[in-house]
Amino acid sequence: MYEDLRKARPVVDFAVELSSEQVDFFWNNGYVAVERITTDDELEWLGAIYDRLFDDKTGGIPGGYFDLSRPYESAGTDLLPQVLHPAEVVPELLDTACVRNGRRLAAQLFNAAESELEVWGHMIQKPARIGAELPWHQDEAYWHPGYVYRAMGLWMPLDPATSESGCLSFLPGSHRGEVRPHKHIADDPAVHGLVTESFDASGAVEVPLSPGAATLHHCRTLHRSAPNRSAHIRRAIANEFQLPAVKNRTPDSRPWLADQVRAWAKREPIAASKGQT
Ligand code: NI
Repeated sequence: MYEDLRKARPVVDFAVELSSEQVDFFWNNGYVAVERITTDDELEWLGAIYDRLFDDKTGGIPGGYFDLSRPYESAGTDLLPQVLHPAEVVPELLDTACVRNGRRLAAQLFNAAESELEVWGHMIQKPARIGAELPWHQDEAYWHPGYVYRAMGLWMPLDPATSESGCLSFLPGSHRGEVRPHKHIADDPAVHGLVTESFDASGAVEVPLSPGAATLHHCRTLHRSAPNRSAHIRRAIANEFQLPAVKNRTPDSRPWLADQVRAWAKREPIAASKGQT
C-alpha cells in the first residue's frame, strides 16, 4: 500500500559538507546545526510517507508505533507518537539526500569511511497544542549496556521547530560524560520514554530549525524537546549513524532497561547495533 509513494521518490542531487568550524563546534559542544540537509522536493515526499505511517499507526517492526510519553497500548489521543524503523516499510527512506548527507557528515565528524556507518531511522510527532515534552535524556541510555557506541543522530524537522512548537535543546559539553542514570517517564516501565534528572541544565541551548534544516548530536549529548504549545503539528525525522558497536568488557548497569536486555539476549547481534530510541 506504499507502492505509490515508493515510486514517487524524487531524484535529488544535493550535497552538503561541514566547515572545519562546524566540526570543531560539534566536538566542543556535542551537537551542530546544519542550515539545510535536503531539498523542498524531498521534504514533500518524506512528509507524505510520514503522514501515512502515522495515519496507519504503523512502524517498521512489530510494536514499532507507540506513544513515547504514555504506557504502551494506551487508549485515547497520542501525545508523542513515534514510528520505529520506517525503512522496513519504505526502503527508499534510506536512499535519500537527507540520509546520504547525514552519512557524509557523520563520517566527516568521526573521521571514518562512510561505508563503516550503519543507519537506522525513526520518526517523532508532536501534535498541535497537545504534543508532549520529551524530557532530558541521552540516546545511548536506550541502547544495549553490553556495548560501547560511537553514534550520532541527525534530527530534521518537516515543520518549523520553534521554542513554542518543541524544538530540541542541548546541554553543551554533556557528550563528554558517562551515560547517566535514567528512569522511565512517570517512573512507569510501561512508558517507553526515558528521563534523567538531578543535573545542572542552566547552560542548555535551544536550537530552532526550519523545515529541511537539521542538527547532528552525539549519542551522549543531553537533549530534550519542549511541549508543542503552537497551533501547528511538529513532525520530525531522526536517523542514527553508528560505527560498529564494540562489546563492553564491563557492561554498564542500566536497570531501567532490564526488560529490553532480556529481550535483546534472544536476538543479538542485530539489536546491539541497531538501537531503539
Ligand atoms: Ni533523543
